[in-house]
Amino acid sequence: MPRRSLILGCGGYLPARIVTNAELASRVDTSDEWIVERSGIHQRHIAADHEKTSDLALAAAQAALAHAGIEVSAVDAVLVATATPDHTFPATAARVQAGLGMTRGFAFDLQAVCSGFLYALTMADSLIRSGQIRTAVVIGAETFSRILDWSERSTCVLFGDGAGAVVLGATEGEGTIADRGILSTHLHSDGRYHDLLYVDGGPSSAPTVGHLRMEGREVFRHAVVNLAQVGHEALTTHGLSAADLDWIVPHQANRRIIEGTARKLGVSLDRVVITVGEHANTSAASVPLALSQAVHDGRIQPGQLVLLEAMGGGFTWGSALVRI
Ligand code: ACO
Repeated sequence: MPRRSLILGCGGYLPARIVTNAELASRVDTSDEWIVERSGIHQRHIAADHEKTSDLALAAAQAALAHAGIEVSAVDAVLVATATPDHTFPATAARVQAGLGMTRGFAFDLQAVCSGFLYALTMADSLIRSGQIRTAVVIGAETFSRILDWSERSTCVLFGDGAGAVVLGATEGEGTIADRGILSTHLHSDGRYHDLLYVDGGPSSAPTVGHLRMEGREVFRHAVVNLAQVGHEALTTHGLSAADLDWIVPHQANRRIIEGTARKLGVSLDRVVITVGEHANTSAASVPLALSQAVHDGRIQPGQLVLLEAMGGGFTWGSALVRI
């Protein structure tokens, strides 16, 4: 019997400290009106000085495992998608593995910036389908506050910290579009666009961690086109149309990108999970955080068809079609 993977549970973690637009406006030349109008963001959560990406990731993983009702002893792999690891090495995932009290299996990080969770989900789904593992914890976790230039108003207002996680488990069966589970994933990258969104530091290029740099208008233009394309790709793979979707859970970069993509896909906004107002852009954490919020508040129900999509630095972009 072929194997497929199911999302067994999900969870999220947001640092306690909330930074409002008004607080930012007291530090840089910006305003609540500008930020809300251009991005839809009202506030963001920022990690405490002692909190590292692994701490956020561990909290989200524990919440997802509790929701799934899965014991740590059953977990075969921990995947962490992050662009803000605790250290250059070892992987943040290894810290999470130790934090969970897990002494078997394996743990590793993936780096695809804001698309990282889609990449990690694809990897875990492939490991399950190939029979190498049965259960994985897939996490997106970021502390972007550590790589922002807090004097640069065009970027520092857009991002926040957080973590989201899902537990993936194996099931046996052919799988049809009516069955629960991950139906397909679709990944893309185009490295020619490196300079439109990058961090000007890192171990092999500079003696510093660096700061995020972005050509916002260009990123915006590419984001709507690429996200609509990869959404269509997921639907056409299964002969489905936008009307078949119950929900889109998009990467939460900017409300206008989310609205533009939904419009291109032909999905009304009441079927789109939007958390960017409260979370801002948490990069790899944004999709699993939004998914977790909508599952736990009852919007997304078991058996519903959900399109996950994201785009980020690289450029990278991807989607996953999932029946929850
Ligand atoms: N407050 C007040 N004014 C500002 C601010 C700010 N925080 N930031 C920039 N401005 C000013 C600019 O200096 C510019 O002034 P000027 O006309 O006098 O030169 C003016 O506002 C307009 O700036 P633009 O960059 O043209 O504004 P735009 O409407 O494009 O909005 C934004 C900027 C919000 C960054 C938008 O381009 C965007 O969201 N881009 C996508 C970026 C993104 O989401 N990246 C996340 C990572 S990638 C991803 O996740 C998909």
